[in-house]
Amino acid sequence: MTFAPTLEFCIEDNVKRTIRFGLNGHPVTLDTDDDRMLLWALRTDLALTGTKYGCGEGICGACAVIVGGKSQRSCKTPLKTIEGKEVVTIEGLARNGKLHPLQQAFIDHGAFQCGYCTSGMLLSAVVFLDETPKPSRDAIVTHMEHNLCRCGAHQRIVVAIEAAARQMAGQS
Ligand code: FES
Ligand code: FES
Repeated sequence: MTFAPTLEFCIEDNVKRTIRFGLNGHPVTLDTDDDRMLLWALRTDLALTGTKYGCGEGICGACAVIVGGKSQRSCKTPLKTIEGKEVVTIEGLARNGKLHPLQQAFIDHGAFQCGYCTSGMLLSAVVFLDETPKPSRDAIVTHMEHNLCRCGAHQRIVVAIEAAARQMAGQS
């Protein structure tokens, strides 16, 4: 026997809720659908369009943000799971008007072409360097292969991350 969900079940699954979380150092409160994805809350409700929509399937990494210190695909992150957590997007990476060393390294090494993948690349790399301050080139390649760049800038992205890692470790 197959089970067909009724309209009543569908409505009950889609619960309105007040979600509170930190966003780039500021408290945010949203009255929204329980299952709304973080990506759309950022882009549509909060007008932070630096976080990009690519595949919508958790594969490309264009939508990566930092949630509770971990890199997370915002297209697959329901808002109810970020209640009380701190979210960092590309708009919150620079501090006091100064770019994050990774942002500066991406510019210095031309680590983008169209730039569509760049915010996701940067936020994934920030978490990676936090966890792996002195990574080998192989470790960078292995980590970053989960973020896709349709322009083929991967080689320069790896070079930029190496340079930022050296700079953050005080080696250059
Ligand atoms: S848009 Fe989220 S991983 Fe591709
Ligand atoms: S720079 Fe265009 S997708 Fe990566």
